[in-house]
This record gives sequence, C-alpha cells and structure tokens, in this order.
Amino acid sequence: MFLSEKERLAHITPLPIDKSGYFIDGAHVARFDKIPWSPFNLIGSAEGPVFKLMTVNWERDMFVMILDVPGGMKVEPHYHLGEAYGFILSGSFDYEYGKIVANNYIGEGASIAHSAVIGPDSVLQYSILFGGLCGVKPDGSPDLSVIVGCRAVYEMALRNNAAGHIAPPPEGWKSQWETPEAIAAVQMRSLAPA
Ligand SMILES: [Fe+2]
Repeated sequence: MFLSEKERLAHITPLPIDKSGYFIDGAHVARFDKIPWSPFNLIGSAEGPVFKLMTVNWERDMFVMILDVPGGMKVEPHYHLGEAYGFILSGSFDYEYGKIVANNYIGEGASIAHSAVIGPDSVLQYSILFGGLCGVKPDGSPDLSVIVGCRAVYEMALRNNAAGHIAPPPEGWKSQWETPEAIAAVQMRSLAPA
C-alpha cells in the first residue's frame, strides 16, 4: 500500500534552520557548519584526518562523509572492502592512478589495498564508501581485525555529538563484510575476466 503525499507529510516536521536531523521516510538534513569534525581512523596512518559523517545507509552498508586529510601526510596502505567514490574539493594527492587534484572525481573498485601521499595542502574530499576500510596483512589480504565501516564511523561521530542527523542501526545490524568469505567472493567477482 502506498501513502498519499498528505499521509507522508503528516509524519514530517520541518527542521529549524540550525538543526540537523533525520526523518522516518529516510530523508535527512546535515547542517554542515553546525556539525563538529571527528577524528577519522585512516587505519595504520598517523592521527590528523577528520571527518563529518553525512549519511549511513545501513541497508546498503554504505556511508557518505566529508573527509579532511592533512597536507604532507603519508596515508599508509589500507584495504577497501567495497567500492569508493570521491570528489576532491581542495588539495591534491598522488597514488597509483595518477596525481589527483581539486575538482577531480575518483571511483575505485572493491577489494583493493592502496596508499597515497597527500600534497602540501590538506585534502578535502566528499566520499561515498561501500563496506568501508580495513587493515592490510603482509600478504596483501584484508585484515578484518579493524574495520572502519558504517558501525565504526557512526560510533566515532556519535561519541563526538556529530551523528544526530543519522538514524541508528536497525537492531541486530551486521555488516556484510565481516567475514573473509564475503570479501573473497567479492574479490573473485571484481577481478574475474569479463
Ligand atoms: Fe583509499
């Protein structure tokens, strides 16, 4: 059964201009300037990166953030569980696909490990991540003992009073990336010849 627009609107109260929040129909509004920066765990790298969480889509195991990584930083190898997409708002960095500068858009495949060297200025990036990041074992395989995925970023933001616009995880929520089998299956799929 579908709700009429009137029925849907009956559940919605517009937000004041200075308040972030989420709605029962999945919509959410983040007042960026009012949300504090939270430390981001860029696994294995020095402290310094900070983020503002914009969205967690629990059903799709995906999150959206604005990430700020300090200039001059060497980003240590980390493993991407799922695909990652980003738009560089400012700064630059170097990695295996070339030098990336402001106004570049990047899309990365699932099941890859990589590192990067940040240019002289800090990199501000709008990022969409499926699954999230984890550590890398010496043989290049994913180290699942630390996963920076939906639950971790939500909890990091929550601890910093920066997650009020994000619906909490559904009861019993588990990431689809928590087992080596799940990751191996995706890796086989993404690297299989067409
Ligand atoms: Fe990365």
